Amino acid sequence: MTPSTDSLARADQSQQSLLIRGGRIITADQDYVADILVRGERIVEIATSIPQDGVDEVIDASGKLVFPGFIDPHVHIHLPFMGTHAKDDYDSASRAALIGGTTTLIEMICPGRDDDPWEAYQRWKGKAEGLSACDFSFHMGVTRFDAGSETQLRRIIDDGITSLKVFLAYKGALGVTDTELFRTCQLAADTGAVVTAHCENADLIDELQSQLVAQGKVGPEFHEPSRPVSVEADGVHHFCTFLEMTGASGYIVHTSCSPAIEAARQFQARGVDVTIETVIPYLVLDKTYAERPNFEGAKYVMSPPLRDIRHQTQLWNAIGCGTIATVATDHAPFDFADQKAMGRAPESDFTKIPNGIPSVEHRCTLLYTHGVATGKIDLHQFVSLLSTNAAKQFGMFPAKGTIGLGSDADIVVWDPNYRGVISAETHTMNTDYDGFEGFEIVGRPSVVTCRGQVSVRDGKFTGKLGHGRAVPRKLARKS
Ligand code: URP
Ligand code: ZN
Ligand code: ZN
Ligand code: ZN
Repeated sequence: MTPSTDSLARADQSQQSLLIRGGRIITADQDYVADILVRGERIVEIATSIPQDGVDEVIDASGKLVFPGFIDPHVHIHLPFMGTHAKDDYDSASRAALIGGTTTLIEMICPGRDDDPWEAYQRWKGKAEGLSACDFSFHMGVTRFDAGSETQLRRIIDDGITSLKVFLAYKGALGVTDTELFRTCQLAADTGAVVTAHCENADLIDELQSQLVAQGKVGPEFHEPSRPVSVEADGVHHFCTFLEMTGASGYIVHTSCSPAIEAARQFQARGVDVTIETVIPYLVLDKTYAERPNFEGAKYVMSPPLRDIRHQTQLWNAIGCGTIATVATDHAPFDFADQKAMGRAPESDFTKIPNGIPSVEHRCTLLYTHGVATGKIDLHQFVSLLSTNAAKQFGMFPAKGTIGLGSDADIVVWDPNYRGVISAETHTMNTDYDGFEGFEIVGRPSVVTCRGQVSVRDGKFTGKLGHGRAVPRKLARKS
């Protein structure tokens, strides 16, 4: 990289300035020590020695790593689901995200089947605007497809929501029919929007659930057997078939196992544009957590389920060779005491346990601890998986996803020497348990800025609720 003084640095001297000094800047493809000057919301200069006279605030980043703000491309915040609502709102979720180094969230809009898409979009956006402390965008859930919804979906895509979301699972609730899936993919191919998909065969799950419950197999440990890896691999094959037929670009969310990856790779090899996401729980937890006694396993019920530990090794391998492009969270927070408990009283039934594990706060430090600190991934992969690849995939690059002149000043100053332990007692997410309770962590953000606003210092939120904005997104193909 060539240090340069840009005209940007001289422009608008009246804006608040922030100098981040002497950090080791890591992007997807660069690694160098330099100072970063921020004016207002953007990075205006990167050079080896920027004078600090007249600068409003100086942050010493020597001995620290400096990353672009992380992007979580798969979270649920407002989520009416399985007879209840997820526990976070943008107050708790955006503070938790920022504390963990995530400066942009992409939330899934999950309307009911009879909801009006435009109205749902406004409702979800209204919950973030004016409250979120970090930036945000949405994937527009398609839970019904007809002429009326198509018109509205086109309008939503035009408004910068350049990705859709379909559920091949959750039959009778969020799930779409094959006709609807086909029409959604055709719309995406026509507009250039990306289709993100939860891939599992809904009919097989329905039948396996009924059979297990009829046999009295009702505890949380039977959630995994009700959705085995082949159910997920079939969902992936099914989705990719529709992508191939329509020419749409796809993104498979929360991939948990090697058969699902293999199914996607076959289509990639044939030229189908499909990207694979995994989520942090699959990389550090396994199905034995959901087998914990006294219903504690319910804390670990999510879909697709936590798998046999050998799949973890295969996910790390797929990360290593770039087959998996992003590590998100699928943050879906439900309390243990009264929400996960819906699968216990008055009769145990794992099919009634709200699915999801809260994790928006811990994604980056867990990936650092289990990936970087163990030597499984390098720092560039860390940045690509947590930020750059999502920014490119979802039309936000280079405003987000990198540290460069003119980029948004979303900056994470990371302390690689920090050591800590995760606990519900100290977390910011609004749940009464933490799925990673007692996990030791290596490294965490010491300072986080979101468009120039210093939002975290030493693990404490210092930002402003309402600072977050909807990120203008391009159609990814054109970025
Ligand atoms: O278990 C999960 N994943 N809960 C949230 C909804 C979804 O499927 O993404
Ligand atoms: Zn899902
Ligand atoms: Zn199929
Ligand atoms: Zn999800």
